[in-house]
Amino acid sequence: GEDSRLEAISAAIRVVPHFPKPGIMFNDITTILLRPKLFKDAVEFFVDRYRDMEISAVAGIEARGFIFGPSIALAIGAKFIPLQKPKKFTGEVFSEAYELEYGNDCLEMHIEAVQPGERVLIFDDLIATGGTLCAAMKLVGKLSSFQL
Ligand code: PRP
Repeated sequence: GEDSRLEAISAAIRVVPHFPKPGIMFNDITTILLRPKLFKDAVEFFVDRYRDMEISAVAGIEARGFIFGPSIALAIGAKFIPLQKPKKFTGEVFSEAYELEYGNDCLEMHIEAVQPGERVLIFDDLIATGGTLCAAMKLVGKLSSFQL
């Protein structure tokens, strides 16, 4: 059933203590991708969860939000918006700086990527402090009435 599929996906994630720095418990989801059945189950889990929510865009956070995000977007009929680290985009961007467990970083989004009133799913591999997700929410909310 659904629970055993989720357990298998969860068990396949490689957890590495003190990587890449002391005190960080790294969850490596790339181990799921090496097992096609689990990879498919993981995508289908999210597609089932989000397909009837009238989501018009999936915003994936560099880098590991780019792995599942586009597959989910295609399956639910949404566009895919990459949120990237600085200096990757060709056009005008919005930028949001944020703090990480290990340093500072910045995310950018093309200004035309999201239109007011859109419902956007933000996708990434994991949340630690929530700083990255917070920056992503600010980016996709730039042109809407959305408030944090
Ligand atoms: C990791 C992870 C999330 C973020 C979560 O990415 O993929 O994006 O950290 O941490 P937070 O909740 O404390 O913000 P990382 O910053 O290592 O960037 P990368 O994907 O480019 O390696």
